[in-house]
Amino acid sequence: MAELTVRTAGESHGPAILALVEGFPAGVPVETALIDADLARRQGGYGRGDRQKIEADRVEVLAGVRHGRTLPGPVVLMVRNRDARLEEAPAVTRPRPGHADLAGALKFLDADVRNVLERASARETAGRVAAGGLAKCLLREFAIEVVAWVSRLGGVAAAEPPADVAEVRRRRDTSDLYCPDSGATDAMKAAIDRAREAGDTLGGVITCVATGVPPGLGSHAQWTRKLDGRLARAVMSIQAVKGVQIGLGFAAADRPGSQVHDPIAFDASQRDGPAVGFVRATNHAGGLEGGMTNGAPVVLSAAMKPISTLRAPLPSVDLVSRRAEEAAYERSDVCAVPAASVVVEAVVATELAAAMVERFGGDALGQMKAAYEAWRRAAQDL
Ligand SMILES: Cc1cc2nc3c(=O)[nH]c(=O)nc-3n(C[C@H](O)[C@H](O)[C@H](O)COP(=O)(O)O)c2cc1C
Repeated sequence: MAELTVRTAGESHGPAILALVEGFPAGVPVETALIDADLARRQGGYGRGDRQKIEADRVEVLAGVRHGRTLPGPVVLMVRNRDARLEEAPAVTRPRPGHADLAGALKFLDADVRNVLERASARETAGRVAAGGLAKCLLREFAIEVVAWVSRLGGVAAAEPPADVAEVRRRRDTSDLYCPDSGATDAMKAAIDRAREAGDTLGGVITCVATGVPPGLGSHAQWTRKLDGRLARAVMSIQAVKGVQIGLGFAAADRPGSQVHDPIAFDASQRDGPAVGFVRATNHAGGLEGGMTNGAPVVLSAAMKPISTLRAPLPSVDLVSRRAEEAAYERSDVCAVPAASVVVEAVVATELAAAMVERFGGDALGQMKAAYEAWRRAAQDL
């Protein structure tokens, strides 16, 4: 069975971040401009630190693409680091609470936590965003769209966005905070300004929706193949994400079943839609039932904790002297929830692309499309 996997390599201040994508179907048109647009968005958002002024991320394709289409072989994507000074970067011996620093020092028996933080850093997500851009090139062949935005930041909540994802994306892309609610954007910016002045940091919540997703991605049959679990793992693995919920998530726990589960209806006019006519008036399940997509949009959200590196540092201990010291300060963001929303969009796109490959066979795009159409016709005649 074809399996689409993504692995990354590279240090925050090394020469580059790399993404190795294996099991990607051959023949998929690759538009690097789309990948670059996501890389640029990952660098943006109100509240970022000075590092983003140095970097100008662009993807370079090192392997697996010819004449603008994927080949039957691994794809390697590279994003260069302009701020490449790994060898000169000073040792860090005062671990920052909330970072990988102390756990890594004790694990690797190394008092210079730079040897851990360079890889733990969210600079790694440039590789995952590049791979996610490639995944989107596959998904768009099946009219699947993934859109993520900032829905809460520093305690300010955005209004419920419109159902039309194209409109959500349009509004999001006019906001400095990637939030489709302009009023909330202003309040969020003010919250970031206050946090910056106080030497503090902020977190928030990201919402992600995928539309056009056919039913049956993932599987109920084995826990490792349940798509809700796979999506949760992918999103939870993003640096600083501490909670993931699908559909109603935690709110479902407080409601009776009659107000949680989405009644099923049949609408013949939607027979050509992703759910082949089996529609739901509500989508509290977030498009996933029994570990499989059900034809409704996939909806999930992620909670990001505030950035761990504080300009007004928290108490720590010097690993060499064992004396109480303030935690180290590395140039840092005040808030990176908008950037993290781009990463959420990328990893959800990657997980959905992997599930599409698994379901419809991943050797070549033409073969996948034929399998998809054959399934759709059979489901319409069920
Ligand atoms: C896009 C993005 C940017 C980030 N920028 C910073 C940063 O500038 N400074 C910082 O201390 N943490 C930053 N983080 C969070 C840390 O990378 C993360 O908290 C740390 O690696 C520890 O991992 P954990 O929070 O998942 O336990 C960022 C996270 C993301 C997703």
